[in-house]
Amino acid sequence: MGLLPSLNPRDILPVLRNPEVFNDLNEEIYEASKSTTGIECVVGLESRGFLFGPILAQKLGVSFVPARKKGKLPGEVISQNYELEYGTDCLQIQKSSITKGQKVLIIDDLLATGGTMKAACDLVTKAQADVVLCLCVIELVGLKGKELLDKPFKSLITFD
Ligand code: PRP
Ligand code: MG
Repeated sequence: MGLLPSLNPRDILPVLRNPEVFNDLNEEIYEASKSTTGIECVVGLESRGFLFGPILAQKLGVSFVPARKKGKLPGEVISQNYELEYGTDCLQIQKSSITKGQKVLIIDDLLATGGTMKAACDLVTKAQADVVLCLCVIELVGLKGKELLDKPFKSLITFD
């Protein structure tokens, strides 16, 4: 991908400053999702997963569901705690946002240790839905985050 030379694995935001590059990246994300059949919902992870998730959901013609940090969502929620290097964090979705058995793609900008994506998988599973693909724009392969996941995973760009 033409983006690679200028990309900082820890900072995806400059990509958004160039509409053509951002559009190309969103097309790549869409292409990466296409071999997974039957996606019914895209879950994006706060906050940088929100940059790509709604666009992918629109392209696929399915619903977008934000997974937010604790205490941000109105109404009844489903929660999943997860470990950070120091302490814990919590992801939540609205109870009404996902239906039982729904096929869900989870998207985020970055897979590092994999803790965030694993928590998102557990959250969607708790909602009795089915994670059919975990998709990240960037994967830091040296951190072996993928090994934490027991769901199908794809990344577009890898760094050591
Ligand atoms: C970053 C990144 C991923 C996560 C990856 O999010 O956007 O969501 O870390 O790390 P992990 O694989 O080790 O869990 P961060 O929590 O920094 O918040 P942000 O998206 O709101 O910037
Ligand atoms: Mg994040």
